Amino acid sequence: MQVYFDNAATTIMDTQVIDEMADTMRNIFGNPSAIHSKGRQAKAAVELARKNIAKMLRCNSSEIIFTGSGTEADNMALRCAVNDLGVTHIITSEIEHKAVLDTAKSLESKESLNVSYVKLDIYGKADLKDLEVLTKKHPGSLISLMHANNEIGSLNDVKAISKIARENQCYFHSDTVQTIGHYPIDLSNWDVDFITCSAHKFHGPKGVGFMYKNKSLKIRPIVTGGGQESSMRAGTENVTGIVGLAKALEIANNGIQDKIRSVQAIKTYFINQLEEKIVGTCFNGDITPEGGLYTVLNVSLPPSEKSSTLLFQLDINGVYVSGGSACNSGAIGSSHVLKGIKHPDNRSVVRFSFSKYTTKKEVDYAINKLKSLI
Ligand SMILES: Cc1ncc(COP(=O)(O)O)c(C=O)c1O
Repeated sequence: MQVYFDNAATTIMDTQVIDEMADTMRNIFGNPSAIHSKGRQAKAAVELARKNIAKMLRCNSSEIIFTGSGTEADNMALRCAVNDLGVTHIITSEIEHKAVLDTAKSLESKESLNVSYVKLDIYGKADLKDLEVLTKKHPGSLISLMHANNEIGSLNDVKAISKIARENQCYFHSDTVQTIGHYPIDLSNWDVDFITCSAHKFHGPKGVGFMYKNKSLKIRPIVTGGGQESSMRAGTENVTGIVGLAKALEIANNGIQDKIRSVQAIKTYFINQLEEKIVGTCFNGDITPEGGLYTVLNVSLPPSEKSSTLLFQLDINGVYVSGGSACNSGAIGSSHVLKGIKHPDNRSVVRFSFSKYTTKKEVDYAINKLKSLI
């Protein structure tokens, strides 16, 4: 048996998405910038995808800028805020995705910009009192705090953060890469400046995402060299990927509450089984259904002889997991997120992440393998 528990790293593509993309590849090959019918056909496919995405997120089509990844979208949000909005201070946290952390550090080293890191609680959630203090000290900053952490799943309160941002004239970017397609996101109800998305996290294709930018903001492109994306991102559009993204989001949003309930039930079953079968297991991050992403479970296991090779042993046994985030897999204990929540170094950490395709039988298989290895 092979069981895939690494859905926070990436997900298997939905067959309907593959079919729609294959159709697009076969039938739509024009360059969307070309003025003849083949070009106009491709442009129409991109614009239809944009319109559908905007409708699902309840924002304007003009607020969606397609990118080549979630990483690029995060880069764009931070770099545009500094280049075009007069931001000289970024308030973020030590457990953001590297797409945010490394970009903030790179801007700090080159521009006249400073970065502050908000305090975190034991679950890795932003301490809102500290955020208030920081925003009062640095009005006009960019706050960049993720909606859900990709390693431990803890959710930040986006509405409470945006309230603090607005009270202190700050801009607000939230990395929503782990939550778009997982929760119904209604931007007419969220007061944010930027959010970011990556299609491969919800059964769509890799190498395509977008940045939502509030229409009130005037920003300039990071990638220059053409007028695509309303002159916001140069380069011939990934028409097939964009069509796939829109289709994947449509499928993800369809019956989303039922999916949340059934995947959360799998996660709860996983937690209960672990507690019963592997004594000494603890969980990192907020594991309550209200406070934690239902697709992610980060587990600290009791030390054992096999700790150092646990991920490898699980792999040979057909259980595919990560040690932290995908880029940290294999390097148990070295994750910046676990350091950020002061996780003790002597325990092995495994991130199990689920999707609508995960079954109880797969959970039983993984737990039995884990038990036999520990
Ligand atoms: C929270 C978060 N932000 C950004 C990214 C980067 O997205 P992409 O893989 O599309 O570059 C990821 C992917 O792991 C993520 O989990």
